[in-house]
Amino acid sequence: MMAMDQIVDYINLHRDRYVEELKQYLSIPSISALPQHADDVRRAAEWTATAITEAGLENVRLLETPGNPVVYGEWLHAPGKPTILYYGHYDVQPVDPVNLWTSPPFEPTVRDGEIFARGAADDKGQVFMHIKAVEAFMKQQGRLPVNIKFFIEGEEEVGSMNLDAFVRSHQELLASDVVVISDSPMFDRGVPSICYGLRGLAYFQIDLRGTKSDLHSGSFGGAVANPAFVLANVLAAMKDRSGRIKIPGFYDDVRELTEEERAEWRKLPFNETRYRKELGAPKLFGESGYTTLERVWGRPTFEVNGLLSGFTGEGAKTVIPAVAMAKVSMRLVPAQDPDKIAAQFEAYLKKVCPKTVEVKVTRMQGGKAWMAEFDNKFVRAAGRAIEKGFGKTPVFNREGGSIPVVSTFQEALGVPSVLFGVGLPDENAHAPDEKLDLGNFHNGIIASAYLYDEIAGLT
Ligand code: BES
Ligand code: MN
Ligand code: MN
Repeated sequence: MMAMDQIVDYINLHRDRYVEELKQYLSIPSISALPQHADDVRRAAEWTATAITEAGLENVRLLETPGNPVVYGEWLHAPGKPTILYYGHYDVQPVDPVNLWTSPPFEPTVRDGEIFARGAADDKGQVFMHIKAVEAFMKQQGRLPVNIKFFIEGEEEVGSMNLDAFVRSHQELLASDVVVISDSPMFDRGVPSICYGLRGLAYFQIDLRGTKSDLHSGSFGGAVANPAFVLANVLAAMKDRSGRIKIPGFYDDVRELTEEERAEWRKLPFNETRYRKELGAPKLFGESGYTTLERVWGRPTFEVNGLLSGFTGEGAKTVIPAVAMAKVSMRLVPAQDPDKIAAQFEAYLKKVCPKTVEVKVTRMQGGKAWMAEFDNKFVRAAGRAIEKGFGKTPVFNREGGSIPVVSTFQEALGVPSVLFGVGLPDENAHAPDEKLDLGNFHNGIIASAYLYDEIAGLT
């Protein structure tokens, strides 16, 4: 029997056990944003370390950072073969509003061939897929066809603030030929894809204060500015009605989409009506002059992520709020620089904000956009592997989401990344009822195994 057939047989044979093990992983509430889950985050790191040890990786250890530990493990006994740096994250997003989950977020439940739990798609399920591909080789052949280093972090969902410095100070440990990442959705159900671009991010909190405490709106209404109203005006000043961002200089470094790329995207099987209906939106909206995919993948945005001010309980309360708060963020594209954008945003905010309120801006997470030269040998190897795992040739896509460390891998290590994700656009990442299709999980394990084999065949 051919070597790869043996591997695939092993994966097929152990399909159900993999799902049971994945349930254990998904039951750990490793929410990096919430300090009360610090122990769970560490437990997930340890669980990951044990899983990669049992799969057959060596020198497995938790490497401390000023925040959550990174899990590292390696197998480096394929001299002359390429070295893969496999990156993923074991931390997950918060689960609220928890009452909207059909089953509890940390009690993984299979319904109709999909596993529902926080982290199912983003990213534990996809990390586990690569762990099981390693296991299949090690248990079946006692070796891997390539060298591999696993590098699984625990702060991706809070912006990977400590990872940049870690990568820069561990260049030798992380030295490799290619980074492999599975932390994105595929283009559509039945349409596997390779992602060659991610947007960057610049995130801020705006705090406005009008007075030292809330005021009776009858006694004082007319005497002072209302910070909620000022906030609404300030936010409204950020974008014009055609969706264009008004921060001076914001578009200076934006690389325009090429006609060639736009033409490729128009060929993708994208059904705008279905997309709109699935989102439940009465009408789509975005910067004019661009298609929906162009806006999401290739254009920057300014969004309000949250708003808080005044009385929001039941009934009515006549009050002028003392404070108003907004969380806002911008998705960035090549070659926008998050630091430069932050300076431009803060300057413009101070300019449009009237003197009637005190304004405070706090900069939060961020990272640069990333784009691959997608016609390299590793991408082509991934294309062949996906074709073998899913029975379909993958399409090439970009994504609107961000993985801050990817541009650092490029800059600091000089290593290209290949993003092959097996989530789905309706996976509900960051939302209630997050899920992963178990068919895609299974095919993803097979495709990962083929990916190692294909990369081993490169010279
Ligand atoms: N897996 C996502 C990134 C992603 C989302 C890639 C959609 C492709 C499509 C990742 O876990 C994530 O959520 N990233 C954050 C980064 C932020 C916290 C700095 C994001 O995009 O909001
Ligand atoms: Mn993720
Ligand atoms: Mn995420």
